[in-house]
Amino acid sequence: MSLLFSKTTLGSLSLQNRLVMCPLTRSRAIGNVPNDLMVEYYAQRASAGLIITEGTSPSPNGLGYPRIPGIFSDAQVAGWKRVTEAVHGRGAKIFVQLMHTGRVGHPLNLPAGARVLGPSAVAAEGQMFTDAEGLKPNAMPAAMTAEDITATIAEYATAAKNAVAAGFDGVELHGANGYLLEQFIRPNSNQRTDGYGGAIQNRARFVLEVADAAISAIGADRVGIRLSPFGVFNDMPLYAEMEADYAYLAGKLNAAGLVYIHLVDHSASGAPEVPASVKDMFRKTFRRTLILSGGYDAARAERDLAAGRCDLVAFGKAFLANPDLVRRWQTGAPLNAPDPNTFYTPGPKGYTDYPALAE
Ligand SMILES: Cc1cc2nc3c(=O)[nH]c(=O)nc-3n(C[C@H](O)[C@H](O)[C@H](O)COP(=O)(O)O)c2cc1C
Repeated sequence: MSLLFSKTTLGSLSLQNRLVMCPLTRSRAIGNVPNDLMVEYYAQRASAGLIITEGTSPSPNGLGYPRIPGIFSDAQVAGWKRVTEAVHGRGAKIFVQLMHTGRVGHPLNLPAGARVLGPSAVAAEGQMFTDAEGLKPNAMPAAMTAEDITATIAEYATAAKNAVAAGFDGVELHGANGYLLEQFIRPNSNQRTDGYGGAIQNRARFVLEVADAAISAIGADRVGIRLSPFGVFNDMPLYAEMEADYAYLAGKLNAAGLVYIHLVDHSASGAPEVPASVKDMFRKTFRRTLILSGGYDAARAERDLAAGRCDLVAFGKAFLANPDLVRRWQTGAPLNAPDPNTFYTPGPKGYTDYPALAE
């Protein structure tokens, strides 16, 4: 008896199975607006229980990568509406991942008037691709003022309302992988001396205020969060208090009542492993749905579901390369291999042309 393929619930939603499609940036949103090609891509993958969209910016300031979508303009809401209708028509539920890139970005990728912002004026190591000039070092962010913080929290709340208007079942706050929310959590990128920096009670404040604002806007049943404890991507080094900091966050997010926490462990791609003790701590502390992700196949997902380690499992590259992943695993069919050369290139190649099994 498979748990993975059995129906379940997420808050007040029914899911057709326990497979979640991971958020996957694909950089096909020309002009930052969802288009027909994206409708087709998500519809192809709608045999999942839950789709979490690619990182989608709540603000012009959060569009640090080229060709990523937003959810702050009317055209973006209209584009996403077509995606959610197509996905719902095929049975999946869909959350939009709200990704503000913060200091990971370059002005060449931003619309006129937008700014690269961060908790502090500390640039992230590493480079950012720009369509105009190729690779550039990540920009030096402007340290957010109190007004910037208030305005950015308001942008998240508006984006959450826009998400509901676009037909999404909810939003996932991107608190992982070195983007704005994690930049506030981590001490290397957050060197503030006001109420948003210093002790974890302060470094967690921005994330918790964003969560509260989203919950006030659309309700706790529609707000989840992704976290990457022990993640080092985008210049987020390990530090001594990491485990204690995330234990504090887990308690606060539980009290806030979010519908899920989605943990990602990047160890399958060579990054530090999330210790089992940390996953267990989240499981014990957080009373609602826990999603685990990172390097899963169907067998490992069944094992973790059966052991009660999580409620749902999210798959990234497997869904990217297999529009009919659910059917392939149900029938034991082989999988298509993902092609990293087309992960972020515009157009249908390596996007909507991965073959499905013949009917
Ligand atoms: C092409 C690509 C784009 C990604 N974009 C995002 C993103 O927008 N937001 C996010 O939280 N994670 C992103 N990730 C990480 C995935 O969600 C996932 O955690 C990772 O691929 C590990 O899971 P897997 O082993 O099942 O692929 C991306 C990964 C890949 C390969």
